[in-house]
Amino acid sequence: MHSKYYQVASVDPSARPKNRTMVFRGFLQGTQNLLSVTDLRSEKISEWQGDGKLHFEICWYFTGSREQYRVAGEVALISNSIKSSYQEFGEQTKTSLIKQQWSNLSDKAREPFYSSSPKAPFDDSSALPSPQDKPVISVNDTNEVDSSSNAASNITSSVVSNNVDISDNFCVIVFTPHTVDYLNLKSKPQQRCLYDIQDGWKERMVNP
Ligand SMILES: Cc1cc2nc3c(=O)[nH]c(=O)nc-3n(C[C@H](O)[C@H](O)[C@H](O)COP(=O)(O)O)c2cc1C
Repeated sequence: MHSKYYQVASVDPSARPKNRTMVFRGFLQGTQNLLSVTDLRSEKISEWQGDGKLHFEICWYFTGSREQYRVAGEVALISNSIKSSYQEFGEQTKTSLIKQQWSNLSDKAREPFYSSSPKAPFDDSSALPSPQDKPVISVNDTNEVDSSSNAASNITSSVVSNNVDISDNFCVIVFTPHTVDYLNLKSKPQQRCLYDIQDGWKERMVNP
């Protein structure tokens, strides 16, 4: 399915554009906000941290229908390790979003979150043990584990009650659209429509 991936652009501190492919992970419940996940240590995160640096543009092409959506707006970073600028929901919703997105990942997709930092020089021996290699403990188990034991002191990530060990590097990205530029190459004549949150998402047809 070609619609599973989109390209996401940011701007680096030298005002240079940066672009990368990401997996679309669904919409934030009850909203039109798009979700993706990433590693907090990746470069895109520093490009999106700080006031006035939250802009993104997603370019999403659907090969079957020959439609392109360019969605621009603001990013919010949701992680157990950083304070979120996203005011739309409280701690509980934040925690359940992180849990839900983490549990959607396969073991293989979780591995990089426990390895060395993205873009660090490659070192075959540097992979950290993932939770499959570690004893799995839940919140309920912690009381029974001697806190001086390796099993307890090696747990560096957040431990949640359903036995899923969420890496502190895990980050959910919420993309809140402010504008959409839609292009349909299949329709005759080709169709281009602009939408803006400022105009209540009113459709504006323009030349392609
Ligand atoms: C098909 C495909 C899907 C990808 N999905 C993601 C993703 O969902 N999240 C992510 O952080 N990186 C994803 N990547 C890797 C990014 O494109 C990029 O290489 C990486 O995130 C580092 O980007 P940065 O240095 O701009 O942070 C994907 C790459 C490909 C080819």
